[in-house]
Amino acid sequence: MPQQRTLVVYYSRSGTTRKVGEALAQMLGGEVDEIVEIRGRSGVFGYLRSLVEARRQVSSPIGPEKRDPSAYDLVIVGTPVWAWSVSSPVRAYLMATRERLPDVAFFCTLGGAGDARAFAQMQSIAGRVPRAVCAIAARDVASGRYRERLAEFARALEPLAVAKPTAA
Ligand SMILES: Cc1cc2nc3c(=O)[nH]c(=O)nc-3n(C[C@H](O)[C@H](O)[C@H](O)COP(=O)(O)O)c2cc1C
Repeated sequence: MPQQRTLVVYYSRSGTTRKVGEALAQMLGGEVDEIVEIRGRSGVFGYLRSLVEARRQVSSPIGPEKRDPSAYDLVIVGTPVWAWSVSSPVRAYLMATRERLPDVAFFCTLGGAGDARAFAQMQSIAGRVPRAVCAIAARDVASGRYRERLAEFARALEPLAVAKPTAA
């Protein structure tokens, strides 16, 4: 099977998207780059700021990338859904890297609604149609039931095996 260099990039405020991102990287044998923010986002004020930024569709300051996305064949970007939108740190990452992104795929974790809108925003910011997308409910991450769905997503992202030409 052809080798594919895969990078999983995610932001996680409370650990759910991190769990999915780490599991996905392990399934695909890929590397990981967690988006880190300049400013903290915990507590009620952090929650409210997250809501406001997502609703206004603005980005927030993030730290430098640890891995250059242009060095990979596929970059899979994961976000929590905030106010039916991509999270502001992931928006910042996509805006900063859009010129250097190879093929992309997206995943999100969420309470229950807004994944389609968040994926559409990610596609528009990245300027790339994703190879595949995957939305996973936070309750399924908590219970461990997400792994089957994630494995299906991982299979959809594996490179296609190229058939060897047969002698005539
Ligand atoms: C500010 C904020 C807004 C949210 N808005 C939505 C939403 O619109 N739809 C939804 O299904 N879940 C929403 N959630 C729930 C998160 O998407 C969900 O808990 C996610 O798994 C959190 O990921 P994390 O632990 O990686 O930060 C929201 C959470 C926060 C903090």
